Amino acid sequence: MYITPIQEIFTGNCKDNCVNIRGWVYRKRTSKKTIFLLIRDATGIIQTTSKKGTEAWKEAGKITIESSLKLSGTVKEDERAPGGYEITTSKIDIIGLSETFPIGKDQSEEFIRDIRHLWLRSRKMNLIMRIRSEVLRFMHTFFRERGFIEISPPMFITSACEGGATLFRTKYFDRDLYLTQSAQLYSEILIYSLEKIYTCAPSFRAEKSRTIRHLTEYWHIEPEWAFADMDDVMKIEEELVSYVCQETAEVCRRELEELGIDPKKLLQIRPPFPRITYKEAIERLHRKGFKVSWGEDMGYDEEKALAEDFNRPFFVHDYPKEIKAFYCKTYRDRPEIAMSVDLLVPRVGEITTGGAREDDRDELIKRIRESGLREEDYDWYIDMRRYGSVPHVGFGLGVERLLMWMLELDNIIDAIPFPRSIRRSYP
Ligand code: 4AD
Ligand code: MG
Repeated sequence: MYITPIQEIFTGNCKDNCVNIRGWVYRKRTSKKTIFLLIRDATGIIQTTSKKGTEAWKEAGKITIESSLKLSGTVKEDERAPGGYEITTSKIDIIGLSETFPIGKDQSEEFIRDIRHLWLRSRKMNLIMRIRSEVLRFMHTFFRERGFIEISPPMFITSACEGGATLFRTKYFDRDLYLTQSAQLYSEILIYSLEKIYTCAPSFRAEKSRTIRHLTEYWHIEPEWAFADMDDVMKIEEELVSYVCQETAEVCRRELEELGIDPKKLLQIRPPFPRITYKEAIERLHRKGFKVSWGEDMGYDEEKALAEDFNRPFFVHDYPKEIKAFYCKTYRDRPEIAMSVDLLVPRVGEITTGGAREDDRDELIKRIRESGLREEDYDWYIDMRRYGSVPHVGFGLGVERLLMWMLELDNIIDAIPFPRSIRRSYP
């Protein structure tokens, strides 16, 4: 028996045909002569009607919200029905009768988070998860089309990439290891063989503060490639973000519109993105009344305020080396400046960090010592600089930060099915 995906009905091709659908009861309303069941499957939601006196009416009477069922009936065009089509039911087979579903209208945010395993059935989460899947596909396509090879980095690691403060320590047999914060240091190994690589993997950060843009486990897209400079980093980043926005606007038009997002907003995202230096960023912030001084890192408030000037993605580059990681290359004629660049977007702030990596062994050792790290923890990383070192670059993009911006989400937790934060690791 052919099961029609609900979305197919809205193409108009099933008009006046008898169809079989399968799914769950989304809403139920009973009038004197008709029971209206809204049925959802993975692809969409359709209204069905069961008339009084029929077999279908009896089954529809018994059925509860979120019960699973198979339903047969005739597709009718009806402008009063949502989407313009509905099904006149001839037969209902209940598959799994649902107990009273705990999610109704006006539930608290906290409650919704406690029952995430049920909330993920909501239309909103269905749409976001579909778009997330496509966005990941577009990123893979982008890199593959440009000759980047995907590699799989380790999750257990021996030393920090992004500083000890957010490192998760974990027992590993008789010793301690850490959970990875970034694939970067391992990716740098592979460029000596494959030249252009990328990873799509989780990163872990022991973020102790609760914010709307931090998770303790997030998905990280990290390309790394040889024989390249700062300009190459910014070019690839703006091409990537623009490509993902264009493709999403085209391919996910229906999902975006249902979420209340105008695809035109994404279609407007095109290269080049504005570029300002850290120095200019600080000057702009001073004009806005912020007290941040040269050498200080920008926080969320500063990033948001800066983004108001652009109202689109933009780069901030050339940071003081003290606020950037030990592996950042510095300008030979300006040793206090790191070749590091962040991509910022409105409302969310930073969505990527990248730049050039120190490729000189002696300089790297100096930077490791200056940063208060132990040389012996980075033996193999330093070792690579001894055998045919090359200028190389890379960046890391937080998938959920990107989605939060594209889909105008209030909180990063809705960009991932099972968010982890300092307070939450259930379900
Ligand atoms: O800025 P970060 O720490 O940079 C790195 O990890 C580099 N090693 C990347 C590289 O060059 N390969 O992290 C990169 C991005 C951030 O810009 C942000 O989008 C995201 O990862 N990110 C987080 N997303 C959600 N929750 C968190 N706690 C995040 N921390 C970083
Ligand atoms: Mg960063």
